[in-house]
Amino acid sequence: MFELSAPLVDRREVGRGMWVLAFIAPPIAQQVKAGQFVNLGLPGTPFLRRPFSVYRVDGDRIEVVFKVVGAGTAQLYEMHMGDEVSCLGPLGHGFEIGGSGKTVAKTVALVSGGLGVAPMPLAARDARAVGLRVIWVHGARTNAEWCNEAEGDENVWATDDGSLGFHGTAVQASPEADLVLACGPNRMLAAVAERWPDAQVALETYMGCGTGVCLGCAVPLCSGGYDRACKEGPVYRAADIDWPALPSNLHYALPR
Ligand SMILES: Cc1cc2nc3c(=O)[nH]c(=O)nc-3n(C[C@H](O)[C@H](O)[C@H](O)COP(=O)(O)OP(=O)(O)OC[C@H]3O[C@@H](n4cnc5c(N)ncnc54)[C@H](O)[C@@H]3O)c2cc1C
Ligand code: FES
Repeated sequence: MFELSAPLVDRREVGRGMWVLAFIAPPIAQQVKAGQFVNLGLPGTPFLRRPFSVYRVDGDRIEVVFKVVGAGTAQLYEMHMGDEVSCLGPLGHGFEIGGSGKTVAKTVALVSGGLGVAPMPLAARDARAVGLRVIWVHGARTNAEWCNEAEGDENVWATDDGSLGFHGTAVQASPEADLVLACGPNRMLAAVAERWPDAQVALETYMGCGTGVCLGCAVPLCSGGYDRACKEGPVYRAADIDWPALPSNLHYALPR
């Protein structure tokens, strides 16, 4: 794990209000695996760091993708070229892709909803590195909410209102695959758990320290007790999470 000051060197819009920022962070770029994240702190602000999946890596650069949803993301959006963030990472336990399974996987489905695209370019990179064919299934509310960067060997689109591709969710639209990796709103991940209990899901939760100390990221497990999403997660076997037990006062709980 590294902590460094990372200057902003590039930005682009990849969907309506969906921004990608590129920072120079050489040791993180070299080590990060798909599904891992960085905890970003903005100098001069009283806010806790904010966690973001690493979206892409290019040489010494790491990229993150986000929409403005509150004060922290608004500050990220307002950064100028050369401004620095304090970048802690790579953090967490990412996707397990290839290698240790009992059966040899040939295809992987990357199932993403909305900003759940965030860990998928690295997942595609890591899957290709072990010879998997990548099926990228991306769901959004409407065509206008689209992320225009997808790089599967096969790309499948789904929209809730049918304005692009399959009319329905990314989970409904996905073909079968030997390995399923998913990221998106937790209600989508709960649907993933029903269809593919063994899928690996990158969970949405609040975080504080990002390093296993504060217990601010507790996640209820079916086996009883809680896990720290920042340390043991954020990637879990889908059926191992006690989805209905996510605290109901938090926005990322399942609707009751
Ligand atoms: C491991 C991990 C990876 C993440 N990767 C990304 C990513 O790649 N891109 C991205 O846009 N977002 C990502 N998030 C969510 C991101 O951290 C939050 O959107 C961000 O912290 C909001 O900060 P804010 O100050 O702008 O909003 P706040 O003012 O803190 O909150 C605004 C809204 O965002 C919700 N929120 C706050 N913190 C989180 C959180 N940690 N997770 C989910 N919702 C939250 C609040 O409930 C509220 O509805 C990730 C979260 C985790 C745990
Ligand atoms: S965020 Fe502090 S323990 Fe996970």
